[in-house]
Amino acid sequence: MAGVRAAVPDDAVAVETVWAAVAAEGEWIGAELPLRPGWSGEFLAALAGPDSSWFVADVGGRVVGGVFVQETGGVAHLGMAVLEGHRGAGLGRLLLNEAVRWARERGCHKMALEVWPHNTRARQLYASAGFVEEGYLHRHYRRSSGSLWDAVIMAMVLDTNSPGRT
Ligand SMILES: CC(C)(COP(=O)(O)OP(=O)(O)OC[C@H]1O[C@@H](n2cnc3c(N)ncnc32)[C@H](O)[C@@H]1OP(=O)(O)O)[C@@H](O)C(=O)NCCC(=O)NCCS
Repeated sequence: MAGVRAAVPDDAVAVETVWAAVAAEGEWIGAELPLRPGWSGEFLAALAGPDSSWFVADVGGRVVGGVFVQETGGVAHLGMAVLEGHRGAGLGRLLLNEAVRWARERGCHKMALEVWPHNTRARQLYASAGFVEEGYLHRHYRRSSGSLWDAVIMAMVLDTNSPGRT
């Protein structure tokens, strides 16, 4: 059975393993190997913290993906990853739905994320969920290879009622 659930502290090693495997691909997420020392400690702190959360994708009792959400100033920032071999099966969408639900329930006015321009799959998922491109960062992130990667900022406004000002 595949599904998505709130993460628990016992998921720390499994989620770190997922992050390390996706980081090892060197293509899709910001994290690179080696992961920061104390990565699982940060995971546990995010789980326990008042302004952040994790959800995991579970297939037959094995964690194969996850999404973290962190609120800053009413904006929920998110990052997600699903293990190769489990992609394209709907788990990413389920994880994203949980993140959006979390942000809405907290009363966040907006969600935001950054994605590599070449990550067509992720951009497609976010766009289909209602995220729009709000900006483009040129030569913004130094990778361990030394190259400078661009990033696309995508966001979704949740509060469309409060007055705005441009
Ligand atoms: C991006 C990622 C989280 C999406 O999760 P997933 O489980 O593969 O995606 P899903 O199966 O839920 O598909 C959701 C949508 O993504 C898009 N999508 C999925 N596979 C795709 C592909 N091969 N090409 C283009 N779009 C694709 C589609 O819009 C799809 O919706 P649809 O099935 O209704 O057409 C996952 O592929 C992943 O972890 N990739 C590597 C890490 C990564 O890119 N993280 C995001 C960093 S910003």
